[in-house]
Amino acid sequence: IPVEDFDLVIFGATGDLARRKILPALFRRFCAGQMSPGARVIGAAKTRHDAESFRAVAADAIREQSSDRCCDEAALGRFLACLDYVPLDALGETGWTDLAGHLDPGHVRAFYFSVRPMLFAELARRIRDYDLVTPGTRIVVEKPFGRDLHSARDLNAMLASNFAERQIYRIDHYLGKETVQNLMVVRFANMLFEPLWNSQYVDHIQITVAESEGIGSRADYYNRAGAMRDMIQNHLMQLLCLTAMEPPARFSPDTLRDEKLKVIHALDPVLPHHIVRGQYEAMPGREADHPSYRQAVGDPRSTTETYIALRVHVSNWRWAGTPFYLRTGKRLVARSSVISVVFKDAPHAIFGQEGGRHINVLTIRLQPNEGITLQVTIKDPGPGGMRLVDVPLDMTFAEALGPEGEHPPDAYERLVMDVIRGDQTLFMRGDEVEAAWAWTDPIIAGWEARGDVPKPYETGSTGPRDAELLLARDNREWRGIR
Ligand code: BG6
Repeated sequence: IPVEDFDLVIFGATGDLARRKILPALFRRFCAGQMSPGARVIGAAKTRHDAESFRAVAADAIREQSSDRCCDEAALGRFLACLDYVPLDALGETGWTDLAGHLDPGHVRAFYFSVRPMLFAELARRIRDYDLVTPGTRIVVEKPFGRDLHSARDLNAMLASNFAERQIYRIDHYLGKETVQNLMVVRFANMLFEPLWNSQYVDHIQITVAESEGIGSRADYYNRAGAMRDMIQNHLMQLLCLTAMEPPARFSPDTLRDEKLKVIHALDPVLPHHIVRGQYEAMPGREADHPSYRQAVGDPRSTTETYIALRVHVSNWRWAGTPFYLRTGKRLVARSSVISVVFKDAPHAIFGQEGGRHINVLTIRLQPNEGITLQVTIKDPGPGGMRLVDVPLDMTFAEALGPEGEHPPDAYERLVMDVIRGDQTLFMRGDEVEAAWAWTDPIIAGWEARGDVPKPYETGSTGPRDAELLLARDNREWRGIR
């Protein structure tokens, strides 16, 4: 469904996020016919470009990101015609009047803050001072949304003093992922799962977001953030909320966000022995291309964690007694984001204990190889008696849904179009972000006070050994990362 005509201003339009994600996402929506030819995408950044040279930057970025799909050059030409550029100084007055002249009063208007957070307040103030806010104006803010509760509150207060909450779109791109949305559909559109989705039937839940990549070119940011701030406080917290929340009355922004917020409020503080922090070491024999984290950031004493595993409790009626184990890390053996719902044993083993323990596990593969698998127990074929074996009931979206399932749209395609449509359902509300920090801060303060040093783990491994012990102590084990 095509969206209304819009003017999307991207501050930081020549930066990494714009080139890797935002511009390619817009192009794909353009090709899908969702973005009308009347729409304008206005790059605004300090870099000296004109419309032509910005279009060339955008074309290169789009071609690079489209390598796995066809990039239709004719369509690209038509898309580039929608692009414009205004050289602009976020901290000064240069370019703002020019920007105002590019905006159409009849269009939906969105300002995308794809810049360092220290510039947010300056941008917000100038958008107001130059009278660029119309009733249809939206502000899109990227993470990191603060680095603790205090800074997140300041940021929220600053945004609230310039815009209404209904105009603010805080991005957590995990919410835009197809399979993350599918998690809600699987839970709430099937009669099968929901009656079992509680501590009576679920033994525990694992949420893994493993990455094989390192920290890329973001050493400065990452060394100040670490995995807890970079991944747990936002992406894994969102996955936890969607997995644990009560069914919202309807799929609408506030009903959904109210339910997520209740989960965050129900989280217990995390005990020190339920936290494992790790930091990656060089890959043995390949130190040159796979250096240690400390080498990568040029900080030989860094105690920033590149891996974290937590045992978390959602203290409410539904989940009392069912732990959630979260883990995420960089430079692990594979890229794999998976939620595993591990069910309890059947109450009575009528086939005896032969062949060990058999349990049902629902695995939701968020990426790659998106799909859902239900592990069920059946009879091992053959005349050898009642031997049991676990087999997967597998639905791989690529197989079940054809090309649509094979190439799910990128999270940014969905999210940017939702901004234009004015749908905040998949964006975080201010109180949600603050509640997430209120839970995160004491965990970080605790390890800082104890002077904890992350445990080393090998590049290409599954993480530090202590993370295995975290589950082994509870007689459980992590599901494989691959
Ligand atoms: C970002 C983090 O928010 O998410 C990165 O800052 C991380 O460190 C990335 O690599 C992971 O996103 P995805 O979509 O590749 O799983």
